[in-house]
Amino acid sequence: MKILMVCLGNICRSPLAEGILKSKLSKNRFYIDSAGTGGYHIGNRPDIRSIEIAKKNGIDISSQKCRQVKTKDFAAFDLIYAMDYSNYNHLIEMAPSIKDQAKVRLLLEETEGPIMEVPDPYYGGKDGFANVFQLIDEACQQIKIKFE
Ligand code: 4NP
Repeated sequence: MKILMVCLGNICRSPLAEGILKSKLSKNRFYIDSAGTGGYHIGNRPDIRSIEIAKKNGIDISSQKCRQVKTKDFAAFDLIYAMDYSNYNHLIEMAPSIKDQAKVRLLLEETEGPIMEVPDPYYGGKDGFANVFQLIDEACQQIKIKFE
């Protein structure tokens, strides 16, 4: 199964989502990647604050490299998780077919709580990243239970 995690910059939220989900699922059966709808940071490493919160939780995301979502991703992946509604709407507009649109989900649809979006932590402080880690970790735990 192939799963793509998507946010705006692919330097804060989706690199964490990629790293966290990879840490929970078997490499043999799952291919996990991440990308951004925007193209501001292509080729860059994740934001240092994401690298640090991941490291604190035993996950190394420091070698990931930012890339932009491309149309071919809809054929290549089975599921595409958006971090917020803006990413979601962008992906729905990009999708080449109705079938491809059906691959797109909000990540927090996998959790029970009322929060539907992983907030963009880019302009905030460190606390924002701890909150983002927690929200993504809960969703990834549900994905593990659902698909593994
Ligand atoms: P991300 O956060 O979408 O979680 O990677 C952002 C990173 C960079 C920017 C926006 C959001 N930016 O505008 O450069």
